[in-house]
Amino acid sequence: MATANVFPMDDNVALEREVHTIGRRLFEAFPTSAGGPLHMLDERAMELASRDLELRAALFRFVDVVPACRSLDDLAQHLVGFVGELEARPGPLEAAMRIADTRGGRAALGAAAAAGVRHMAHRFIVGSDARDAEKVLRELWERSVATSVDLLGEAAVTPTEADRYAERCHQTLEELTELYARWPARPRLEADTVGVLPRANLSVKISALTPLLRPHAPDRGRADAGERLRPLLRRARELGAHLHIDMESLDSREAVLELVLDLLGAEEFVRGPSSGLVLQAYLRDSPETLDQVLGWADEHQRDSPLTVRVVKGAYWDHEIVEARQHGWPAPVFEDKSDSDRNFEHLTARLLDARPAVRVAIASHNLRSVAHAIACDHLLGGDGSDLELQVLRGLGDDLQDALAAQGHRVRTYCPVGDLVSGMAYLVRRLLENTAKDSFLTEHSRGVPVEQLLEAP
Ligand code: 2OP
Repeated sequence: MATANVFPMDDNVALEREVHTIGRRLFEAFPTSAGGPLHMLDERAMELASRDLELRAALFRFVDVVPACRSLDDLAQHLVGFVGELEARPGPLEAAMRIADTRGGRAALGAAAAAGVRHMAHRFIVGSDARDAEKVLRELWERSVATSVDLLGEAAVTPTEADRYAERCHQTLEELTELYARWPARPRLEADTVGVLPRANLSVKISALTPLLRPHAPDRGRADAGERLRPLLRRARELGAHLHIDMESLDSREAVLELVLDLLGAEEFVRGPSSGLVLQAYLRDSPETLDQVLGWADEHQRDSPLTVRVVKGAYWDHEIVEARQHGWPAPVFEDKSDSDRNFEHLTARLLDARPAVRVAIASHNLRSVAHAIACDHLLGGDGSDLELQVLRGLGDDLQDALAAQGHRVRTYCPVGDLVSGMAYLVRRLLENTAKDSFLTEHSRGVPVEQLLEAP
């Protein structure tokens, strides 16, 4: 990789020109039939929720209890309970409150609400397991879109639960390997300039692999999760699959980072499997985490370089609330443009660090994505060593535009049931009702030139 000294942003003018050209071209390739990325969501509820914070909170409390409700009546009573606490109720909710007076009305309301939540969940969750998701995964692959299948599950409470999650991971690795082996060649998705990229790619969460992950006793959680992660890495290596470790909230970051770097740095795993971790750009100290990861990568020459997926971060509300409760300063940027700027800074540093690491840029923000592609160009790349990632159900338009333009795109596809997917669903809803989210701005018709402005 060329080491042209473009970073930090030596030639701002050239970079900005490139970002705008790439961004406009991508935007024009968005499917024309689509009404913007948010057309997929229940627009009325989302629109209302993003205008009204109190309503937003009520909606999330409701979504959270849905899987635990025993009957439609129970569901309707919860809905009415949450909505009843609101001071100002939009018209449709006022009507919902009125029909909930009778048993029949509650059954109808419960059924409508359950259908609504299921409908939303199915936007994001591609099946109950890998086999059930086969049709979606195959269609994506045939359209030149790779996937990372995310096995839904987090915050295991008992060892049995963690064992069961590990068992499902083993099974999913096997099923994905078997499925993907049957499908046609897609050269762009299967190799970069360093070597082979596995077709089967699974993302897992460490908090699902141990009930002992506690910030005040990181060693116990790390050791316990390691007992389940080690056999999974072995299995992934035997199968030639990729295993990606997600990052979660900050209280588990050190444990997860150390566990992954320790295991992947061990002699046993020098030859594989292909694996990776996540860097969260909303964390103020993520540049130091990147120093640590790049230092590790320099010392450990694995056959498959570590893949670093850069994301903004999905636990923003949690981190803010946690910090406020303890009277700590927020560990995350509170202003979105600071996160966006840091995202670009991390992107540039990572791209410049190749081939010591593989780089995956995960964002739905047209500007962030165009910036990554522009940096790759300015560093002399042709896109072979840059992966772009999106979430199923949110980044679909961007995914299609990227694939149509020959970029390597990987879509994160959760599998599992509604109960294990609820926390995931709530995170997606929180992001998409945030006033300043890119998808919200896009769906409100903000002009492309403005969407592409430097943060
Ligand atoms: C999450 O689970 C996508 O990993 C991210 O929210």
